[in-house]
Amino acid sequence: MAERARVAVLISGTGSNMAALLYASKADDCPYEIGLVLSNDPAAAGLQIAKAEGIPVWAQSHRGMERSAFDALIDEQLTKAGADYVALAGYMRLLSPEFVAKWQDRMLNIHPSLLPKYKGLDTFRRALEAGDEFAGCSIHVVTAGVDEGPVLGQTKVRITAGDTPDSLARRVQFAEHQLYPRTLSAWITQQRSRAE
Ligand code: GRF
Repeated sequence: MAERARVAVLISGTGSNMAALLYASKADDCPYEIGLVLSNDPAAAGLQIAKAEGIPVWAQSHRGMERSAFDALIDEQLTKAGADYVALAGYMRLLSPEFVAKWQDRMLNIHPSLLPKYKGLDTFRRALEAGDEFAGCSIHVVTAGVDEGPVLGQTKVRITAGDTPDSLARRVQFAEHQLYPRTLSAWITQQRSRAE
């Protein structure tokens, strides 16, 4: 098999999607490896998961820093680690336009709604209030607009009577953990075959 692509994952919290990407990468036929996990919160729980698996981590608080200066630090780490792709996984900071431009077509995000519905926060409450039949999750290429960019994959999760934002969030997370590794793998494979 060709050398695996190096993926860096940006997190801010629990890191369950990062963990899903990481454990999926242990399969022999996975086209990527996780080369670095970064966080804007040194207390992010997901960092421990990465460390336990021997994945290099980098964490620094963004507080008191200009967005573009902080993103330049991240970019420096990505370059040092030889990252080919970036996966945003619960990274709760807007990225500077410079950073997004630099990683254009090499960065994906996971969002807990069926995009283009419910960009931004509070997606489950909004889906419930709208009386939707389905909630779900989407993986999209990151572009300048928040939660915009071409959608590469989605999983629908049925809303049932009595669902709350929390109950829905729990089921959507199961779906996220399946969707992200599968979509990232397929996308990397496609990107690489195009480049050949
Ligand atoms: C996920 O639900 C993802 O859709 C959203 O933030 C959450 C992160 O969860 N962007 P985790 O840190 O991966 O557990």
